[in-house]
Amino acid sequence: MRDSPEAIDTEAAAAALLRWYDHAARILPWRVSPAARGAGAVPDPYRVWLSEIMLQQTTVAAVRDYFHRFTTRWPDIQALAAAEDAEVMAEWAGLGYYARARNLMACARAISDAGGRFPEDRAALQALPGIGPYTAAAIAAIAFDHPETVVDGNVERVTARLFAVIDPLPRAKPQLASLAGKLTPTKRPGDFAQAMMDLGATICTPRSPRCQDCPIAGFCVGRSLGIATDLPAKSAKPAKPTRRGIAYVAQRRDGALLLETRPPKGLLGGMPCFPTTNWTEDAPDPAPPIPADWRLIDGEVRHTFTHFHLRLQIAVAHTALAASPERGDFRAAPDRAALPTLMRKCWEHAKPHLLDI
Ligand code: ADE
Repeated sequence: MRDSPEAIDTEAAAAALLRWYDHAARILPWRVSPAARGAGAVPDPYRVWLSEIMLQQTTVAAVRDYFHRFTTRWPDIQALAAAEDAEVMAEWAGLGYYARARNLMACARAISDAGGRFPEDRAALQALPGIGPYTAAAIAAIAFDHPETVVDGNVERVTARLFAVIDPLPRAKPQLASLAGKLTPTKRPGDFAQAMMDLGATICTPRSPRCQDCPIAGFCVGRSLGIATDLPAKSAKPAKPTRRGIAYVAQRRDGALLLETRPPKGLLGGMPCFPTTNWTEDAPDPAPPIPADWRLIDGEVRHTFTHFHLRLQIAVAHTALAASPERGDFRAAPDRAALPTLMRKCWEHAKPHLLDI
């Protein structure tokens, strides 16, 4: 047991973590196992990049099926670069944070135009669309085994506990990044980055860490002080405001539904959506997209974005074949799976009031 951060033998701790990873690594579809890597296999940077973009703000469980569908349909960077924007947006639908999908296409095209090879170093990666400091370090380490330190939420938690950093997040971020850097070995930095992620996801979990199974428990100052579970401390976040609006679900007599593609910038950018009012903290100003006998239906749809909660009332109208909308266009048999989650909820809510065509 150690009781001061300076006393940690970081080399021995990193070696212990890598020994654990050698037998406990999660099997993930974008990952080259430590055994295969030891035998000379190298990861495909395209798959590493795609997985890292998908995993931002999302869990491995949520990403698996999307990753499989994307890589089956677009097996390499050239294939993705040549895809239609709308097809990529439709495959991304439901995963959220749609700016990621737009940047994904921009990045694929930039790499494809430059010859199709991913740059290897962090700075060159970070110059590409949608690749920030975290993702650049992750790709450089995981795909190219560069000695970069990869710091996501899991790594911050493991590091805060290991070194007993009691300063709260987000203020502690630079300190945690610097300590994680001290821990990163020069040999096998890519496996080390993934080992930290796996430890955070499977053992050093937020609420009930399984310290008895932890390969680096003997190095953990947080544990020796009995405070590991309480770390990292977090400053109170400001409460999320609630915004309100109305979503307009218009059905034409032939069953077609009125949808519009949201402007490329901003929330749900580039996605097909039912037209809505602005979303505001006051009562929304009605903004029906087509003159019709609109009826507000009971209840509301709730959804939470990063910075606010949203409550949408749903208005439904049935329109004539000749009706011409001021916004959007009628689409026959739209694909529910191509809509963002919020709009799937709106459709579900409106369904009892729609004709089953
Ligand atoms: N979370 C973010 N990146 C990851 C990766 N490469 N493997 C597992 N979990 C992750």
